[in-house]
Order: sequence, then structure tokens, then C-alpha cells
Amino acid sequence: MSIEIWHGDITELDVDAIVNAANETLLGGGGVDGAIHRAAGPGLLAECCQLPELRPGVRCPTGEVRATGGHALPARHVFHTVGPVWRDGRHDEAALLANCYWQSLRLAERMELQSIAFPAISCGVYGYPLHQAADIAVTETLTWRKSHTRPLRIILVAYNAAAFKIYQQALNRSGQIDSSGGSSALMQGLAAAT
Ligand code: APR
Repeated sequence: MSIEIWHGDITELDVDAIVNAANETLLGGGGVDGAIHRAAGPGLLAECCQLPELRPGVRCPTGEVRATGGHALPARHVFHTVGPVWRDGRHDEAALLANCYWQSLRLAERMELQSIAFPAISCGVYGYPLHQAADIAVTETLTWRKSHTRPLRIILVAYNAAAFKIYQQALNRSGQIDSSGGSSALMQGLAAAT
């Protein structure tokens, strides 16, 4: 199982699932949610509206995940997860964010997917400090890898160079980079576009 950092636009990734940083209505928004819905086309919203868990007034709770098809995206599936809104770090934000990663990985394993890509959940509109969120993303994926064999590829997507550097630093802090600076299990790649 590889854990990779990738610098680019998550909507371009040809993977089994991309994770969407959604809101509880799952009816779209701005940021990566808006980008995914634009790239997927109107069929994605139509499917979200039909999700059985989302009868009128029913919400997707923070920390949970719902799957839809990828529609016009290269990705086969979209996992819509709702990250926590950052308040002050004393309102279970870390546990809720960790659960977004954990529940998405559990769903990928259950669906026998080979690859999944995560944006920096909660680090935009929801205001989560990226350094702390990157540590959570790395810690959760490394912990998952210790006791699971699927998915084979976990990609942490940095949308800009600053975020890519912060993810790299989080990987280094995790101690998973061997002395040569490379690593068998952790790879760092730059988007082809950059
Ligand atoms: N590819 C990869 N990452 C992206 C992309 C993209 N195309 N667009 C934005 N990002 C990054 C942002 O730079 C940020 O680091 O995704 C991260 C998450 O930011 P947001 O999309 O603002 O998500 P979040 O902070 O979780 O807020 C969710 O915003 O868009 C609404 O409906 C959404 O209400 C929900 C809230």
C-alpha cells in the first residue's frame, strides 16, 4: 500500500474514488465541492438528491461519508464526506476530521477499490489549520496501513505548492521517510501539470 502526496487538481485524477469535502446537505458548494460538481456534471447532483440517506431534511453528519458515482469525472466514485468546521480545537475537531479519513478508507476497502484520493478536508472554508490537518491525514492513513491491505494507493492531494510542502513536512514528522529520503511505502509526486 502506497501513501502519496500529489500536487494538483483532484478532479483530474484517474483513480477509483476521489473524496469530496462536502457539507451536510451534499448538494454542492464552493471550493473542491464546487470543482468536483462542475467536473462531474449535473448527474452528480441528481444522484446526491436521490441518496436514500438524504430524504428531505436528512443530513450527512460531520465525520461520515456517502458514495456516489463519478459521472463525467475520470474517477469512478465520489466519496462525499463532511469535515468539521474549525472552532478552537476543543470541540472534537481532530476526532471528527480523523473519522472522515477512516470512514472513507473503510468504505474503499468494503467496495474493494484500488485507489483513493483525498483533498485537504476542512482546510478551506471550514478553516482547519493545514499543518494540524496534514498531521491527521498522514497519521490516519499510516495507522490504516498497519492493519489493512486495501486500498493499494492512498493519495493526499495538495492543491498548491505551500500545501504540498506542508504535507511533505507532515510525512517527515511521521518518521516514515527512510534515511535516503525515499521510501518504499510513501511516495511524493508532483502533478504532471506542474
Ligand atoms: N483539487 C484539490 N484540492 C482542492 C481543489 C481541487 N480542485 N479545490 C480546492 N481544494 C482544496 C483547498 O485548497 C483546501 O485546501 O481543498 C481543501 C478544502 O477546502 P474547501 O473546498 O473549502 O472545503 P472545506 O474547508 O472542507 O469546506 C467545506 O465548503 O465548498 C463548501 O460545500 C462545501 O460547505 C462545504 C465547505
